Amino acid sequence: MPESSSRDQPGKPKRILTGDRPTGRLHLGHWVGSLQNRVRLQHEYETILIIADLHMLTTKKSRKDIREVLSNARGLVLDYLSAGIDHERATIYLQSAVPETFQLNTILQNFVTVNRLLRLPSLKQMAGAAEIEEESFPFGLLGYPVLQAADILLAKAQLVPVGRDNLAHVEITREIARHFNITYGEIFEEPEALLSDIPALVGTDNRGKMSKSARNAIFLSDDEKTVRAKVGSMFTDPKRIHPYIPGTVEGNPVFIYHEIFNDNRAEVKELEARYRAGKVGDREVKDRLADALERFLAPIRDRADFFSNKPGLVDEIIWSGTLKVRQIAAETMREVYHKMGFDRVWKEIEQKGEINM
Ligand code: TRP
Repeated sequence: MPESSSRDQPGKPKRILTGDRPTGRLHLGHWVGSLQNRVRLQHEYETILIIADLHMLTTKKSRKDIREVLSNARGLVLDYLSAGIDHERATIYLQSAVPETFQLNTILQNFVTVNRLLRLPSLKQMAGAAEIEEESFPFGLLGYPVLQAADILLAKAQLVPVGRDNLAHVEITREIARHFNITYGEIFEEPEALLSDIPALVGTDNRGKMSKSARNAIFLSDDEKTVRAKVGSMFTDPKRIHPYIPGTVEGNPVFIYHEIFNDNRAEVKELEARYRAGKVGDREVKDRLADALERFLAPIRDRADFFSNKPGLVDEIIWSGTLKVRQIAAETMREVYHKMGFDRVWKEIEQKGEINM
């Protein structure tokens, strides 16, 4: 048992840490894969959301990328709040503004081997997505999971909701925590991953998962006209060149979206039956989907309007969250330096005491 953790007291909700790199606005795929889950979990657990701009640096590092952090972070937080994250419940913070992150990262780097990191498929995937060749693979990208471990252990989070691609990073965090505790004494609880194993939402073009870079995404912040246009040009069953040709519902992105986002279940059943029988045009199926998405997005847009009409509110939420995490982080680092014995070394040097070598 970690000696000074007050959160393992009975009745205290467990602490969650999860978040995103600030690379762009959130879309329906994010809603399905993570946002929906986070909105639910915030009522059960103490939730901390990280805007992982230092992780973004491992694949995007130009001055322009860093300038974009500000607008991307604001957009990301606006999307969180619009999707139903409650800033009174959840703490949202900017990773680069918590200096203890760098400190713990440097220490934790010694508790994992290069070999262990080199074997991770997630790092090769990220390098591939960022078009990074093997010979220009950055040291920082190899350390991506260690930096993530630093975030998790700094906050002493017990639960980490992640997708499958991040599961190995939580496993490495557990190994690092264990290794550290064996070496210096119990400080860290081994966090558990909360795997959200929902299959990725297909993009509007039916060519793999929805993503900003594939240009097949419907964003939470898209306006009605944009949503209708995107739905209108969605991929459907290509063999249906006439409405009277029986269509395939299974694996058809238009019906996949209907299943997930259309709250009118009777309408979905009815459209599916008519589609299979060749008794409905694609136009109608898509119009009903666009209507359903409008119903789904309406409360999200209302909240987006609310927050964007209050100048400074989003920044205020990010900054107060950051200050709160700084306090937690400072406390963790005091403990880490103490367990490692650094604090006594510093004290002796400061006091210019006798050095026993
Ligand atoms: N690695 C996460 C991603 O895929 C972002 C992240 C950084 C994170 N630190 C974290 C997630 C800590 C959970 C916990 O973008």
